[in-house]
Amino acid sequence: MQTQLSGDLPLIEGDRVQLQQVLLNLMINALEAMSFASDGIRDLQIQTQRADSDCVLVSVRDSGPGFALENTEQVFAPFYTSKPTGLGMGLSISRSIIDAHGGRLWASSNQPRGAAVQFTVPACSTSPS
Ligand SMILES: Nc1ncnc2c1ncn2[C@@H]1O[C@H](COP(=O)(O)OP(=O)(O)OP(=O)(O)O)[C@@H](O)[C@H]1O
Ligand SMILES: [Mg+2]
Repeated sequence: MQTQLSGDLPLIEGDRVQLQQVLLNLMINALEAMSFASDGIRDLQIQTQRADSDCVLVSVRDSGPGFALENTEQVFAPFYTSKPTGLGMGLSISRSIIDAHGGRLWASSNQPRGAAVQFTVPACSTSPS
């Protein structure tokens, strides 16, 4: 696992446990995706950066097989799973949590291979006291 964490991030206001759950869901998905592929490097990259309009952008990228579907929006549907023992709720719940924080969560393909899942959380509008 490699991390690239920016030291220059705005403060955000959020539910610490819920945001941990989102990150954990994304990391477990990445690990599961890479564990299905028997060959190739298993590379998990976690990155934080400041994004437009004063948001924190968190990216989770892996070197697994990537999304099987052309339309990556489908993976956010409740109970959509490609795993024999999956429930298919991880991404759906994660999106609800990020929506509730005023952010956005989306999926795309990673380059040169694998999946990328990213979310934003807007910066606090009030300064800390
Ligand atoms: N990193 C990834 N690489 C490839 N496919 C992925 C990745 N993350 C999610 N997916 C696809 O999206 C589907 C839905 O993911 P989601 O986390 O919602 O459910 P799940 O992992 O199948 O089950 P669970 O509810 O236990 O999380 C997965 O079954 C898989 O097909
Ligand atoms: Mg999952």
